[in-house]
Amino acid sequence: MAARFALCVHVARAVTRTSTRVLGQGHARSLSSDTERTLVAVKPDGVQRRLIGEVIKRFEQRGFRLVGLKMLQASDKLLAQHYVSLQRKPFYSSLLYYMTSGPIVAMVWEGHNVVRSSRMLVGNTDPAEAAPGTIRGDFSVHISRNVVHASDSVEGAEREISLWFHRSELIDWEGWDHKNIYHL
Ligand code: TYD
Repeated sequence: MAARFALCVHVARAVTRTSTRVLGQGHARSLSSDTERTLVAVKPDGVQRRLIGEVIKRFEQRGFRLVGLKMLQASDKLLAQHYVSLQRKPFYSSLLYYMTSGPIVAMVWEGHNVVRSSRMLVGNTDPAEAAPGTIRGDFSVHISRNVVHASDSVEGAEREISLWFHRSELIDWEGWDHKNIYHL
């Protein structure tokens, strides 16, 4: 059985409840679209190359909210479910081998159009096609070691988030800078 690494953002639920209560007065979310969520994962090559902070930085500076974060050694079973649509691809077995070769940092990011925006931040699947300025365009060379995963649709994101995270691991919080990022 795959061992789990311990890095988990388990912000105490009591703290979250307090924050929500304090911030909630007069700061209730007025946009439903700003609660769209996506799964982003720093793959084993990204972890080995110390790129976790770089990936987080790009999503934070854009204005998205981190609502879940953990490091784990993913199991074959989890990855088989995650990549179910790729089962018949010739690269499938090497993809699973690589994705289980070391720890992964899985995250859930939230915000307006976060699925589409994160695909732009991450860049093309093939680093040779990924624009400079994107994560893959800046930090990778070969398609089989492209540093990061990001869900490709809202429906896919919901499915992937439920595979990688338990509901209790996701924290609902309100950013103090909300009115500076969103048109209310
Ligand atoms: P895919 O879901 O098509 O791309 P993305 O990650 O951009 O959503 O493929 C999943 C991963 O499979 C991809 O990130 C890298 C790997 N892969 C290969 O190793 N070789 C390939 O030819 C392709 C298409 C993907």
